[in-house]
Amino acid sequence: MKVSIIGGGGRVGSQAAFALQCGGIVREIALIDANADMAAGEALDLLHGSALAGDQRIYAADIQGAADSDLICMTAGLRRKPDESRLALINRNVSLYKSILDSLRTISLKRHCIFLVVSNPVDVLTRLHMEYLGWPARQVLGLGTVLDTTRFRSLIAHAGNWPPTQVDALILGEHGDAMTPIWSSATVAGMPLAKLLAPRQQAEIFRQTQTAGAQVIKLKGGAGYAVGLGIAQVIQAIALDRRLILPVSSPLTGQYGLQKVCLSLPAVLGRGGVEAVLEPDLWPKEIAGIQAGARALEETWDKISGK
Ligand SMILES: NC(=O)c1ccc[n+]([C@@H]2O[C@H](COP(=O)([O-])OP(=O)(O)OC[C@H]3O[C@@H](n4cnc5c(N)ncnc54)[C@H](O)[C@@H]3O)[C@@H](O)[C@H]2O)c1
Repeated sequence: MKVSIIGGGGRVGSQAAFALQCGGIVREIALIDANADMAAGEALDLLHGSALAGDQRIYAADIQGAADSDLICMTAGLRRKPDESRLALINRNVSLYKSILDSLRTISLKRHCIFLVVSNPVDVLTRLHMEYLGWPARQVLGLGTVLDTTRFRSLIAHAGNWPPTQVDALILGEHGDAMTPIWSSATVAGMPLAKLLAPRQQAEIFRQTQTAGAQVIKLKGGAGYAVGLGIAQVIQAIALDRRLILPVSSPLTGQYGLQKVCLSLPAVLGRGGVEAVLEPDLWPKEIAGIQAGARALEETWDKISGK
């Protein structure tokens, strides 16, 4: 599989490339970035380790290099200026994103190419990507709450001193303020976490999950390793047609009474992209949280699409 990462010279894109290199599943990784030197430097650094990592082709390229990709991962983005509002940043990122989509129209894209949107606001850009490029819904997915879910599971394990890989718990809905913790099905080694953790502990773990992104930005400028692993998990699930069920962002088709809005529910991932979006039985307050996220996303969508 050939994977191109647009924004591959940045923190998230290069960490995703490293996770893909360590995973050893994809055959070819192209790093594309407006900052060509950064893309070239990251590609060279990765290439230097390839004798110890795996038999992959890793290189920097311009946008033409994304031609014939099986999967294109979008991590290009702008950072917030001091005193800039959230909506102003969203508008700048939407313009940037549209300009990248325009440049993608100029190259030869495989019909089965899958797009993984990581740039924020990820749920809004996933919908924009699909509608603006007119690409099939199943072939455009957002990273959604994959990172939030990973953080949630890891933080639960840390709090209870349990093995992180044996914690099974989800964050669903919006990748943002309205993200929703799903305690109804959360388990460690099959034991319900709603019974093992007191409500106060649950609230504290969720608070840490919700503020994790801001905390990492404050301490080191931005997230990298965990999001890179999350991106690699999604890409490798698709590459291997594993039919893993992951909380990626995808347009809803009636789940919990919601239509069109892109947000994260458990979705089956295979070689064709999103094979199905599931609607698990949840507690009423969890469904209400997902619906609140949908309302927030619809409001942003109306603002950016000029309705
Ligand atoms: N969905 C998630 O879970 C998640 C998690 C972390 C970060 N993010 C988002 O990922 C994005 C990237 O974050 P980062 O920390 O890597 O930022 P960064 O600034 O380190 O990297 C962004 C890169 O995009 C490049 N870029 C800008 N315009 C471009 C263009 N037109 N074409 C190609 N490349 C271009 C920049 O040169 C830069 O290298 C941001 O939008 C961030 O909010 C999403």
